[in-house]
Amino acid sequence: MIATRNTTRFLLILLVGYFPFNISANVVPAAGIATAHPAATEAGHEILAAGGNAFDAAVAISASLAVVEPMSSGLGGGGFWLLHREKDNFDIMIDGREKAPKAAQRNMYLDEAGEVIPGLSITGPLSAGIPGLPAAIVHLSKKYGRLTLNTSLQPAIRQARNGFKVNQHYRRMAEFRLEALRKSPAAAAIFLKNNQIPEIGTIIKQPDLAITLELLAKKGADGFYKGDVAKKLVKGVQAAKGIWSMADLASYQLVERKPIRSEYQGIRITSAAPPSSGGIALTTLLNILSGYDLKSLNNTQRKHLIVESMRRAYRDRAIYLGDPDFVKIPTSTLTSQHYAIGLSASIRPDKAMPSALLPGIITPPRGQDTTHFSVIDKDGNRVAATLTINYPFGSCFVAPGTGVLLNDEMDDFSSKPGTPNAYGLVGAEANAIEPDKRPLSSMSPTFLENDRGIVVLGTPGGSRIITMVLLAILNYADGGSANSMVTLPRYHHQFLPDTLYYEKAALTEKEVQGLQQRGHQLEALKSSYGNMQVVFWDKRNKRITAASDPRATGAAVVR
Ligand code: DON
Repeated sequence: MIATRNTTRFLLILLVGYFPFNISANVVPAAGIATAHPAATEAGHEILAAGGNAFDAAVAISASLAVVEPMSSGLGGGGFWLLHREKDNFDIMIDGREKAPKAAQRNMYLDEAGEVIPGLSITGPLSAGIPGLPAAIVHLSKKYGRLTLNTSLQPAIRQARNGFKVNQHYRRMAEFRLEALRKSPAAAAIFLKNNQIPEIGTIIKQPDLAITLELLAKKGADGFYKGDVAKKLVKGVQAAKGIWSMADLASYQLVERKPIRSEYQGIRITSAAPPSSGGIALTTLLNILSGYDLKSLNNTQRKHLIVESMRRAYRDRAIYLGDPDFVKIPTSTLTSQHYAIGLSASIRPDKAMPSALLPGIITPPRGQDTTHFSVIDKDGNRVAATLTINYPFGSCFVAPGTGVLLNDEMDDFSSKPGTPNAYGLVGAEANAIEPDKRPLSSMSPTFLENDRGIVVLGTPGGSRIITMVLLAILNYADGGSANSMVTLPRYHHQFLPDTLYYEKAALTEKEVQGLQQRGHQLEALKSSYGNMQVVFWDKRNKRITAASDPRATGAAVVR
């Protein structure tokens, strides 16, 4: 099969040579991969070189990131994989989001007085949802890949066994979660050295994780969700006061969902569907902004309107969005042009509207981890995937003998309507905890497509993900490149808290003054945020470029 495809490609190259004007438009000149870790980018290219397609590469990258970037995503977590298959122009989102355990209860993180118990939904196995990543990569490989799952998992298995080197980012994240990691002896044994943050260059080997990956490679999803690994996970979780059962693992189901589509200035946007809030919020944002000629406005005015749009889209996120298998989401209303016109009617050009005056629910966000990667292969197949275990090092809990670091995705539910979660996000009924429900996410893997080209993009950053993707889309609409999309300074508003957060380079002194005069509350951030990964297929110039966010230590390679 591989030989046949290579032969076809060879013939195609010959034909392109003879008839350059007929069929060259859609021939991808190279494969591009951007991920948050050089070893994961290499794993992807290794699998492409072995005859794999973008989907096989996505399996290899997801598994590799689970090994070499353990603070961000992993087998104990979940994510969304947005796929485009070129041969039949087919787009789909694989929803491998975690699910609440069957014993989860609406008030499980509240004390007797009905107040949120700090930390309970962030640290330890009670904060962990049932992982979706293992099921998702098995499905991705079997249904869309060209190689066997075993082949695609080999780079990750090797990396787990041979180890990876601690870098500065690892140290920072380990420091942030040090106390929590020390609480789980199995986690501390892997990720700390003598209970301390390991020095730069220390090799972290994960032999148990290698065995778990091998079982997955051999037995498919059953290798994780049933049998030995499942037993160890449940035993470890229950011994540490968690509530997982064997039935929770055995009944985990991923879902294939239709992505959310929208259009802005001739750019077709394909993005994440609920239980991500990304696609719907981006559509609302872009629908509002379509009503203005942004190019004709001065920078302050432009940023004011963008911020007012953010405020409104995040208000709707808080009220209406949740797991579509549990709540009825008014998607067609929220994504309609008419609805956006209604929202715009309350935007004043000269004044910020206090969030308290917008009807809705009654905050600082931080983007510490999670990971995104983008891939385009030489056939034009593409994957944008944002994967997470939520907080840095997730729940910081490893079930002994599994090597699997569990997520703390339960914190993405609204533990108590109106009370902010770790990202300062407030939620309502739609995102309340229920058994088997998926928590609402902001992860927004996205494709852009117009006459100029195709962009595969996304980023971690908790509640700020959606506004980062928005700013990148606006930049692309203005003619931006892969590099400018990942580099451009960022600003963010999420309805509550009623604060406009910004990287220092995002606003000039004059813009700060102009926005303050309009009534915005501004807060300059002490550090930058986001870790965007972009691959851009420039159809006009027949070039693939890839860029990894300069704020972090990823790698973008075109080959
Ligand atoms: O699904 C979500 O929206 C969050 N669990 C993502 C967390 C995240 O991006 C952390 N950030 N840097």
